[in-house]
Amino acid sequence: MLKVLKYPDDFLRKKAREVEDFKNPDLPRLVSDMVKTMEAEKGIGLAAPQVGSDLRICVVRVDDTVHTLINPKIKSSSRKKEIFEEGCLSFPGKFFPVERPIKVKIKARDLSGEKIKIKANGLLARVLQHEIDHLDGILVIDRAIK
Ligand code: NI
Repeated sequence: MLKVLKYPDDFLRKKAREVEDFKNPDLPRLVSDMVKTMEAEKGIGLAAPQVGSDLRICVVRVDDTVHTLINPKIKSSSRKKEIFEEGCLSFPGKFFPVERPIKVKIKARDLSGEKIKIKANGLLARVLQHEIDHLDGILVIDRAIK
């Protein structure tokens, strides 16, 4: 289990760096610890900076499927947006209304470095956008509708 950093920890504001060495033996361990931590904390997404790693990695669990995304990038977003109350493990017990595109197409790498593409809508699209924000030091409060 990893410790989840809470706002206003400065590390949450750091821009994470791309994973370049997919042979790094610490990588699978980090991902599996992130998944365990996300599940233990009853979260549906967790980004590496939230557990003190500066790598561009996030894990998401929606509809009983765990997605591991390394170096994720949003390739396109729908024009249509919606507002939804978002929680975050770094803001325990709090929810913020955030407007985001309802559909996104994402490119990433998996743990072995293979390219993956995800077409997401609904909750999955929302969580992926939230987690990718974390990799750039962007937090839910920055996007919350005032
Ligand atoms: Ni979050």
